[in-house]
Amino acid sequence: MSKKAIVPGSFDPITAGHYDVIRRAAEIFDGVTVAILVNSGKAGTFSPDERLEAVNAAIRELVKEGVANVDARVFRGLTVDAAREVGANFIVKGLRNASDFDYEFGMAEITRRFDGEIETVLIPSRPEFLHVSSTYVREILKYGKGDGRAFAPGTEDMLKKIIEKKK
Ligand code: PNS
Repeated sequence: MSKKAIVPGSFDPITAGHYDVIRRAAEIFDGVTVAILVNSGKAGTFSPDERLEAVNAAIRELVKEGVANVDARVFRGLTVDAAREVGANFIVKGLRNASDFDYEFGMAEITRRFDGEIETVLIPSRPEFLHVSSTYVREILKYGKGDGRAFAPGTEDMLKKIIEKKK
């Protein structure tokens, strides 16, 4: 049976850390869907379409690296329903620190209660991405500071253009 995973998140926007986790998930699983979870009560900085556009730009970079089993979709609702919708039995999340661990450990238990067939797989961050978050990337974009390493490949120019239009 083919092993399919989703990598869920807000991706507001995708970061270099997300990119690394997605790439590593793609090595483990036959297929990976990046699930952009939209919370109707939280507008976010980037619209669902803009987040998807950036994730798709990063996926094109993965393809250049020879990784061709990743796609992306926007979902509204629960992560577990996104997994079911694409026929994924695995939910992959990256872990940077103890607070990520506490949060994801709780989420894994909730997922198990909702659907005992879906397993959560936690991937530890590489040291170079420990400080990278969507919040950090948004701050860099807002204040125009340069830290190209925080951006997912293929997304820096696009995100800068989108943020300029919003100013
Ligand atoms: O990018 P993040 O903040 O790590 O993403 C968190 C996300 C979107 C994966 C998480 O908040 C989530 O799963 N939200 C969807 C709602 C859901 O499934 N909640 C489960 C508990 S009821």
